[in-house]
Formats: sequence, C-alpha cells, structure tokens
Amino acid sequence: MADPKTTAAVTAVGAYLPPDRLTNADLEALVDTNDEWIRSRTGIEERRILRDPTKATSFMATEAARECLAKAGVAPDDVDCILVATITPDHVFPSTACLVQHKLGAQRAWGYDISAACSGFLYGLTTGAKMIEAGMHRRVLVIGGDAMSRIIDYTDRTTCVIFGDGAGAVLLEATTDGTGVLDSVQYVDGSGVDALWMEAGGSLHPATRETVDARLHYVRQDGKTVFKRAVTGMADAAAEVMERNGLSGPDIRYLVPHQANLRIIDATARRMGIGPDQVMVNIARYGNTTAGTLPLCLADWEADLRTGDNLVLAAFGGGFTWGATWLKWSYGSGQ
Ligand code: UT7
Repeated sequence: MADPKTTAAVTAVGAYLPPDRLTNADLEALVDTNDEWIRSRTGIEERRILRDPTKATSFMATEAARECLAKAGVAPDDVDCILVATITPDHVFPSTACLVQHKLGAQRAWGYDISAACSGFLYGLTTGAKMIEAGMHRRVLVIGGDAMSRIIDYTDRTTCVIFGDGAGAVLLEATTDGTGVLDSVQYVDGSGVDALWMEAGGSLHPATRETVDARLHYVRQDGKTVFKRAVTGMADAAAEVMERNGLSGPDIRYLVPHQANLRIIDATARRMGIGPDQVMVNIARYGNTTAGTLPLCLADWEADLRTGDNLVLAAFGGGFTWGATWLKWSYGSGQ
C-alpha cells in the first residue's frame, strides 16, 4: 500500500486586534457619509485602528503568532518558516517576516513577505502547505495582517469607511491523517492594477514632495469595477475548488470569505449552494482588514469547529488577485 500522503494541517490559530474602535458615527464626523449608507452598502459597523504610532504591522503579526504558538504548545525555535501576507509592511524592506522572526525569537526560522493584497493569506496558505507536502518543513507559520489605517485617506469617503487594522496567524504542521490544506486555486490579472492600488512609494514613484501633495501614498479604489470582478472571481474560484473535489453545498461546514462587502459574500454563498448559517461573517466588527480577514474569521469561529469540517476559504483583492482553498479542519469538537 502507498504511504499516506503528507498534508499541512492547521493546528492552531491566533489573532490580534488593536483595542481602539472607529465607528460609523466617528466617520460621520470626518467625511460626508452616514451609518445607513455604510451598513447597507458594506455591512460594516465599526473597525479597529492601531493608534500607537510606535507600532505597525509587525507588532500585530507577532502578537497573533505568539497566541497561535502558545495554543499549539510549540516553541518559537520549532518554527521552520514564517510567511507574512501584508501590503502594509513596516518598511519597504527588510520584510515584515524578518521583524516577526526577531520579535518571536524564532531562531531557526527563515521567511519572507507575500504581497497579494486581500488574497495574501490564501496565497501564503498554499505556499506554506506546499513546503510541508514537499517534505521541506514540518512547521510553517502563516500570518495575514494589515495596518490599513496607515495608508487610508480619511478625507476619501469611498475608501475610509471600508478598511480596518488587524492580524491573524495559523500554524501549519505536517500530518498524514487526511485533514489539512487539500486543494487550492489561485489567480492574478494585472490588468486591474489601477482599480485598487497605492500609486506612489514604490520604485516608479518614490516619495517626493509632489507625490505627497498629490496624496498618492493612499489607497485608491474604483469600487464598482472591483465589486463586479470580486463577485465573479470569488464565486468562480470557490465553485471550481468544490467541483473538482466532488463537493456540494451540504458537504461544506463553512465558507470562510474575505470580508470586503456583505453583498460579495452573499453572492459567493449562493453560487456554492450554501445557507447563511454556513458562512463566517465578522465584517460588521472589523471591516476589511485586507490580509487579516481570513485568519481573523478562523480565530472567531475556532471554538465552533470540529475535526473533519470542510471549509472553503475564498478571497479577491487588488492586483487583481483571487483564489479559493479547501481546508479540512484538524482539531476540536465544536458545538
Ligand atoms: O478588499 C479588496 C476588494 N475590494 C472590494 O471587494 C470592494 C468592492 N467594492 C465595493 O464593495 C463597493 O463598490 C463599495 C462599498 C466600495 C461602494 O459601494 P457601491 O454600491 O458600489 O457604491 P458606488 O461606488 O456606486 O457609489 C454610489 C454612491 C455614489 O454617489 P452618486 O454618484 O450616486 O451620487 C458615491 O459617491 O454612493 C456615494 N458614496 C458614498 N455615500 C455615502 C460613496 N461612498 C460613500 C460613503 N457614504 N462612504
């Protein structure tokens, strides 16, 4: 008989959310918006903001990773690799993964950042899982987190109501019990570059007085274009991963969707043939934390999950980037 296949199990989840809240009422005082518009168009009621100017994404990522490792009972020195999905690194370089490695004291680990906007955590999950499947590593930390408030223009009502700060982490460990990351699809389409981007600050438009005056160091989004692509992208990817694995709606315990807009999430769930009780939604409390949304959902629902639960994770974001992953949950007895 063939040896059982090695897969990457999620063996623990950690999260960090900054304590300060920015409510819809707070935003009404900043820009021409209102609670009813924000709730009905996005589903968001409040977001968390990292106010402390001495802290940034590496702080949130490290806090999430610490919680994750403590739950797993794994010492930082036993981590082989750290992947940090983020578009708000502390610095252009070195990578946030380097900073997290140092803060954690993960002496043996290497790592790097993954820049894939809202799909970053999914891409990281696929990458980390392949490292484990290939036999290269036994333990990989995959972290998704963003301090979006640091690149949001709080005079632009079309973006400032959407985004928030936060980070989540999962530990991937080798298993042969048939659970873990079982399949994934991922895509990019670079024709979407200027539909959702931060134009300056890279090598094309380094920071100058002109770029700052033109407010080019902030997120800009053509919401309608992104919305249309996100609805089909997320739903198509989720359906593809289900179809090619013979999964149908009733087989799925939860859709774990990127939290960008409640209407995009609903469309994905409809396409998968699942009901509202099979969808993780926490957008009301945290808004869109970019690479943080998926692990923050897993953290919020962790106590409810059971060994063997089929989860479909799906995301769409700037780039464009998108994808979906079939994850069979590896622990817990849930409710
Ligand atoms: O996470 C990465 C991927 N991102 C996404 O998936 C986001 C996708 N896009 C969206 O979620 C939605 O397009 C938004 C939530 C960003 C916007 O919702 P929408 O229903 O597409 O609104 P819209 O852009 O078509 O704007 C409708 C109206 C406009 O006014 P007029 O031109 O009709 O007079 C906007 O100026 O709403 C206005 N508007 C606002 N009004 C009050 C835009 N933002 C606001 C606001 N408050 N914050």
